[in-house]
Amino acid sequence: MSKQIQAIRGMNDILPDQSGRWQALEQVIRQLVASYGYSEIRMPIVEQTELFKRSIGEVTDIVEKEMYTFDDRNGDSLTLRPEGTASCVRAGNEHGLLYNQQQRLWYMGPMFRHERPQKGRYRQFHQVGVEAFGLGGPDIDAELIVMTARLWKALGLSEYLTLEINSLASNEARANYRAALTDYLQAHEAELDEDSVRRLASNPLRVLDSKNPAMADMLSRAPKLSEYWDEESRSHFTALCERLDAVGITYVHNERLVRGLDYYNRTVFEWVTESLGAQGTVCAGGRYDGLVGQLGGKHTPAVGFAMGLERLVLMLEHTQSLKVPDPVDIYIAAMGDSAELPALQVAEKLRDHVPHLRVMQHCGGGNFGKQLKRADKSGAALAIILGEAEVQAGTYTLKYLREARDQETVDWTTLLERVLILQSEKED
Ligand code: HAM
Repeated sequence: MSKQIQAIRGMNDILPDQSGRWQALEQVIRQLVASYGYSEIRMPIVEQTELFKRSIGEVTDIVEKEMYTFDDRNGDSLTLRPEGTASCVRAGNEHGLLYNQQQRLWYMGPMFRHERPQKGRYRQFHQVGVEAFGLGGPDIDAELIVMTARLWKALGLSEYLTLEINSLASNEARANYRAALTDYLQAHEAELDEDSVRRLASNPLRVLDSKNPAMADMLSRAPKLSEYWDEESRSHFTALCERLDAVGITYVHNERLVRGLDYYNRTVFEWVTESLGAQGTVCAGGRYDGLVGQLGGKHTPAVGFAMGLERLVLMLEHTQSLKVPDPVDIYIAAMGDSAELPALQVAEKLRDHVPHLRVMQHCGGGNFGKQLKRADKSGAALAIILGEAEVQAGTYTLKYLREARDQETVDWTTLLERVLILQSEKED
């Protein structure tokens, strides 16, 4: 036998026994974004490399170390998208969606980063991103956060997630702060680890992200960004907090939350959990008022977030708090040649009459025991059995697979009644 070819490290298959949970999660998300009036946008997975360099920033981990970049056959430098915001802005500018307009958009799909794979961190992962354009106030920032809080509630995850917020203020305020922080860190250079020394030179705010316990005390005494906030950013932040308070969303103001992408200003936020180990951020975002202009459009305020679906699925596997339906409701078994065509006919008739009913018809023949075993394995609640006697009489034998209930033989009208009850119980 020839050697099997394996998937690429950090790029996972989502197998049939997992895809039900993914679909259930995606369904909840689709309903959520629709309930806030957001429209879906679908962008290509590959973009010009320049797009990500210009938006995420040349001296970020993503652009410096993590992008899947290659030359295509024309010699153009292309990159598998590491995130969706840049593509969304590119598409918005290109199709005139942003010019003097408001847009509330969302997208879902795979993203690619060449990071070291571990639990919750992959090289191909999936995000749902939500972006709002043309709105500069704290009201829309609050809407996005409120939306995420509603999602955690729907998924049964609220108790495991904490909201951290901060403001990166204006570019000018941040530049002043950067200078003060750089002075402080230079004075403590001996206490910095290797990674932080590198960041001090390229992107000093990112030093604040360090989880190194040896640096925790020194960093806690570093100058605080909020001491450098400009007045408008301060009142924006206060107004956001007021809104969150008004709807009972609790948050922590984390002065060291700076995010790893360069495009942010003012509001930034993350939802974090302790239940996933090192990769505890399940959802993150913020305001990026400069990006639309930076990518060639007219200055347009914008804010958004993205969540990592793998991380949410991991949490949901643990909590079991999202109902994952079995893939089959009804299994149809046919005993003997004469039952085969009537079995096919009743399967189609049921699909005609009961929307969303999932009917699996036994294929491949075999004896009663074998067919029932398959029926059981399918996860169906009910098996419909057709043998010679049923065909003669125009009846159906019903076997309840998940409840202690006697088998019964019924006509079509009763069969339909039973199936409709089953279906309505499922939807409850
Ligand atoms: P990000 O913080 O780079 O932000 O990613 C958002 C989320 O994607 C993370 O919180 C995490 O849940 C998930 N994620 C990131 N990298 C990985 C990975 N290697 N494996 C698994 N999950 C991962 C952004 O991407 C911004 N575009 C968010 C945004 C939208 N800001 C404004 N609008």
